[in-house]
Amino acid sequence: MKMIKMLCIILLGSFIFIKCHNSDELSNSLARKVIEQAFNNPIAIPPIIDATNASFEAKSNTINVDGKSINTLGYGGASILGPTLKIEKGAIFNLAFTNQLSEPTNIHWHGLVAPPLQDGYPTDVTNPGGTFNYKFMVNDRPGTYWYHPHPDMSTASQAYRGLAGFFIISSPEEKALNLPEGQYDIPLVVQDKRLTNGLTYNPNNDDRTIGLFGESILVNGTMGPFLDVATRTYRLRLLNGSNARIYNFSLSNGAKFNLIGTDGGLIDSPKEMSSVLLSPGERADILVNFGSIAMDSSVFLVSNTFSGAYAQGYQMFKLMKFTVKKVETDPFTMPSILMPVEKLTQSESITTRKFSIGHDGMGGMGHNGMSHGGTAGVVMHPLDGKFFDPNRRDEVVRAGTIEIWEFDNSIGTETHPMHLHGLQFQVLKRTGGRAMLEPWELGWKDTVLAFPGEKVSIIIRFPDNKGKFVFHCHNLEHEDAGMMLNFEIQ
Ligand code: C2O
Ligand code: CU
Ligand code: CU
Repeated sequence: MKMIKMLCIILLGSFIFIKCHNSDELSNSLARKVIEQAFNNPIAIPPIIDATNASFEAKSNTINVDGKSINTLGYGGASILGPTLKIEKGAIFNLAFTNQLSEPTNIHWHGLVAPPLQDGYPTDVTNPGGTFNYKFMVNDRPGTYWYHPHPDMSTASQAYRGLAGFFIISSPEEKALNLPEGQYDIPLVVQDKRLTNGLTYNPNNDDRTIGLFGESILVNGTMGPFLDVATRTYRLRLLNGSNARIYNFSLSNGAKFNLIGTDGGLIDSPKEMSSVLLSPGERADILVNFGSIAMDSSVFLVSNTFSGAYAQGYQMFKLMKFTVKKVETDPFTMPSILMPVEKLTQSESITTRKFSIGHDGMGGMGHNGMSHGGTAGVVMHPLDGKFFDPNRRDEVVRAGTIEIWEFDNSIGTETHPMHLHGLQFQVLKRTGGRAMLEPWELGWKDTVLAFPGEKVSIIIRFPDNKGKFVFHCHNLEHEDAGMMLNFEIQ
């Protein structure tokens, strides 16, 4: 029965795909299926370090999976991922970074309003053996941000092999809300990997088209993870740190949770929901109450099915297990107000820029990708008909002004999570496809998902950091295949 159901789902998926792809592309045009684990490994929680006085290196390492030793990359001595950098709003971030890899790298502070020369611009790299001092004032809203490498055409490879970490900002205002903290405040980065042949990054043309999908889910670098919990409210900071896979986060018992934060930190008031869909790069801060779960019973964080993405969403799979092991009285009361979000309005915008992000199937295959490292026959992904060129200024904007940017995927056949560096924006409207804003898109955002057929408008106020930044698709295979442009703040 289960087999038949699966088969139907696959057939349905293929049918939808046939409509927009020719048959020789069809072979692997669906995301690789996830193979669920036994959930008997205690989840790793990355150590928290003080971001005002930090120092770490990027280095290759190994992890043990099913008795096999696998090569990985990590920060600060971690075999995979890196420490959680923590800072109070208003403080100065200071990191002495050393590159102990055998390839150039850099670090991008995803979601932070960072100065251009600190932001991990694709060609600002630290060579093997070199050092770089990241130092800037952090004035962003309290919330969940993250960091990962961003070297031109190697972001996907380095992030996939293990380089990423959390960057958490707190503030006295947030503290006053008495949100769950310490062992009740858990960052969770979800990533899919292909572990059949070690953790090597070797995408084929299908992977380069839809993105690289793995059959194994790792949460905080742990395969098949569990966490023992108490009967109380937890703050889970969800981050989709995958190259291409989208997750529709839900609880296996269908229970509701409260969303308290988005990409750009705390939202104005808690919002109750039973699922939150996150594409690569996006975050959601949620409060989950395990108070009604019986002692020794488990509930799973799962990814539910979803529609609209063509290549993925057909499978429901578990991500991690929570087992209640302790009865505790919950000291937490839900605040009715979190942190006011100033609403940017359409009338404040001085101009609208339109970007076509939809390309048909293999889009830029063999096109002028050559102008930037592309090779004939290698899949390229254009953004507004162009491929990334660090020597170009694609868009010039003024600090302090407000603009509307429209990402048009109406003719596209793929999902594109669009991300801007160095700022937070608001999602204004979505037409086509879902034709609405999702409830988790109402706060500050730095990444917004456009399904095939959708046109998404965002509204941006450009910060005072003058200089050049990138914006790109956060499907990392797309990003590395040219789907990235520059904007310069003047
Ligand atoms: Cu998280 Cu330019 O990326
Ligand atoms: Cu970013
Ligand atoms: Cu894309």
